[in-house]
Parts: sequence; structure tokens; C-alpha cells
Amino acid sequence: MRPYIIINCAMSLDGKIALPNKKQARISSEEDMARVHKLRASVDAILVGIGTVLADNPKLTVKKEYVKKARNPVRIVLDSHFRTPENAEVMKPNARTIIVTTSKEYKKGLLEVIKCGEGDKVDIVKLMELLHERGIKRLLVEGGSTVIWEFLRHGLFDELHVYIAPLIIGGDAPTMAGGEGIKALEEAIKLQLYAIERCGDGLVLKFIPLRSR
Ligand SMILES: NC(=O)c1ccc[n+]([C@@H]2O[C@H](COP(=O)([O-])OP(=O)(O)OC[C@H]3O[C@@H](n4cnc5c(N)ncnc54)[C@H](OP(=O)(O)O)[C@@H]3O)[C@@H](O)[C@H]2O)c1
Repeated sequence: MRPYIIINCAMSLDGKIALPNKKQARISSEEDMARVHKLRASVDAILVGIGTVLADNPKLTVKKEYVKKARNPVRIVLDSHFRTPENAEVMKPNARTIIVTTSKEYKKGLLEVIKCGEGDKVDIVKLMELLHERGIKRLLVEGGSTVIWEFLRHGLFDELHVYIAPLIIGGDAPTMAGGEGIKALEEAIKLQLYAIERCGDGLVLKFIPLRSR
């Protein structure tokens, strides 16, 4: 058993989710921020990769200005070699945090470091079972590029929400799905569009995986 998984990201019209050199860019409009914080408030946990923690230093909490009586979900970071800086926002005791490594485990206050997998990659299939056993039934995956690719590639998602901003970034900026990519079109991850919503100046597209009929 695994949690219900929603992948969410914000991209420019040319598919970029940050600036060249992975520098953080606020691609989301104010309306999209409100949507994302409501989505955060609806899940048990939010997951990101260490690349996002190092690039953006996100808090991964629910802001009261968007959701009154906000309840913070558990924050989860995929971080094989535990590179999360001690002063990172996710280490602050605003919410429970689980750092998933392949090397060490310990518990201190609201921080739990757990081991799941070997080498440079957390075993996300096993992790999903583990999280489900721990009561995480609804999970939001917020990025970045490498992590989203891995969840898509393993079919570990039930919904994909993409905010598309009316912006062009260009260059070598990361896209929604990085990783190794596919080698032939037959291997492409196929989706079914189920909603198109206007969101401020941009659009939100919502997809479900296309299961073979
Ligand atoms: N616009 C948006 O919606 C949005 C949202 C989030 C992030 N971003 C952007 O995304 C960029 C960061 O993306 P990124 O690709 O560099 O980093 P990332 O996807 O956040 O993190 C990738 C890292 O996670 C670790 N990891 C451990 N197990 C993994 C597994 N099974 N699968 C995948 N990763 C695993 C690996 O590092 P170790 O080997 O060290 O464990 C890997 O390099 C930043 O530029 C950020 O601004 C944009």
C-alpha cells in the first residue's frame, strides 16, 4: 500500500521550473500560491529532494494568510547523504520533518532521520510503503526536477498538477522532469488531462496517469 500521491509544480510556458543554474524563481502567481497552500493543507506530508532544499531553502509549511487554522503537514526530504544544512528552514521546529537517507538514522525532537535504500538514491517504492504504514495517506510531491522524474518514471502518482505561468525563461534551466529521461517515444509517460483551470494570469492543468485500457 502507498499514499495517494499528487505531484505539483509551477513552470514557465517553456517548461522551466527555475532560472538557469537552478536559481530559484517565483514562477507562481499570488493566486497559484493560494492554490498550493490549500493543497498543502489537504495532505499529510510534503516531499522534496535535497536539490530543492539547497537551491530554494523552502519552509514547506502552510501559510496562515492563505489557509486560516493552518495545520502543517510532515516535511520529507530525500537526502541520501544527509546534506541538509543544520540551519535549513526544514530543520526548524515549525513542523515534523523526516529526512530520508541511505546512510544514517536518528530522532531528535521533531526531526527524524530514517534510512531507506542504498547508495545515492533513496528507494522511493519502499519509502511509499513505509510512509503509508506510518499513517501518511496523502502525499504532495513538490519537486524538484530529478525527484518529479523519479516519481513519474515509477508510476508513483495519482494526479499531476502543473501551473503554467505566462513567462519564458529559456536557457539551461531545469524543467519539470529531469533525470535520465526516455530513450524512445514508446517509453514516454502517458497522461490524461482532466481539468484546465484559469489561475490569475496563468493556467493550471491537471492530469491523471493514463492506465492501459
Ligand atoms: N517551480 C517549482 O514548482 C519548483 C519546485 C521545487 C523545486 N524547483 C526547482 O528544482 C530545482 C531542484 O531540482 P533538482 O533536480 O536539482 O533537485 P531535487 O529533485 O530537488 O533533488 C534531487 C536529489 O534528491 C536526492 N535523491 C535521493 N533519492 C532520490 C530518488 N530516489 N530520486 C530522486 N532524487 C533522489 C538526490 O541527491 P542525493 O544523491 O544527495 O541524495 C538527488 O540529486 C531547483 O532549481 C528548484 O528551484 C522548482
